[in-house]
Amino acid sequence: MAEPLRVILAGATGWAGSALARGIAAAADMRLVGAVGRSHAGRRLGDLLGEPRLDCPVHASAADALAAPADVFVEYTKPDSAKANILAALAAGCHVVVGTSGLTDADYAQIDAAARQHQRAVLACGNFAITAVLMMKFAETAARYLDHFEIVDYAHETKVDAPSGTARELSVRLGRVKPAKLDVPLGEVRGPREARGATLNGVQVHSVRAPGYMISVEAIFGGRGERLQIRHDSGESAEPYVGGALLAIRRVHTLAGVHRGLDTVMKG
Ligand SMILES: NC(=O)c1ccc[n+]([C@@H]2O[C@H](COP(=O)([O-])OP(=O)(O)OC[C@H]3O[C@@H](n4cnc5c(N)ncnc54)[C@H](OP(=O)(O)O)[C@@H]3O)[C@@H](O)[C@H]2O)c1
Repeated sequence: MAEPLRVILAGATGWAGSALARGIAAAADMRLVGAVGRSHAGRRLGDLLGEPRLDCPVHASAADALAAPADVFVEYTKPDSAKANILAALAAGCHVVVGTSGLTDADYAQIDAAARQHQRAVLACGNFAITAVLMMKFAETAARYLDHFEIVDYAHETKVDAPSGTARELSVRLGRVKPAKLDVPLGEVRGPREARGATLNGVQVHSVRAPGYMISVEAIFGGRGERLQIRHDSGESAEPYVGGALLAIRRVHTLAGVHRGLDTVMKG
């Protein structure tokens, strides 16, 4: 049997990262060799998560964790630390899986250049859940047939980044099909231009942040006398993200440069 993949997980003590750490502990083909999280630096991850198979240390920074040799670095922290962590991991010779939201297309262009320079791959997934991947595929199909479409993303009041990672990824994918049609060009809108949302990849994106909302995203399509809404709702558990993230860790080495979306490595 091949040696297990050596994985470093940044954000391993967080909501999404701790669920993934447990998933890695249960996977026979990979091993967590390092974790990153500032508040618990110096502790063993397994003691914190109640999972004795996670015997790796928690480091205060990605640079400290990357002193250990690893194959794949998973970024699951926050938008303000993500890019530096990814660039450090590429420089250290790791392939990178990105779950953190909030990175811009310009960030990914810079990361792509670094990945190609180091001959490594980056797989960035705005949403690792299979239902979210399906929502994006269905929306892509709808965009082939309908000209008018916009994106609405909903999240709790403390989410710092807008639009969400899922909404950004959806805009990339819909924009690749075609830019959405605007019968009133943005420059001719009467009233504040912001009322029409942000333009990302040729698609208007609207972000709602308020208590009572979890993470949801809608692709809305309009035709004459008809409309279509394709919506994804996340629940309270981080469990739906684990399977997709494990698949990304296993398959990222088959790619080169930056790729967006889990279906890059899904069969069928
Ligand atoms: N792609 C997907 O499917 C998916 C799913 C869920 C969430 N997400 C995204 O993943 C990210 C994390 O979400 P979450 O809900 O898990 O957040 P969270 O619960 O706040 O966890 C963040 C983790 O990152 C660590 N961290 C934060 N800033 C850091 C820094 N500067 N240096 C080192 N470690 C740092 C935190 O530990 P310390 O604060 O102790 O440092 C903690 O371990 C967000 O961007 C979220 O939108 C994506």
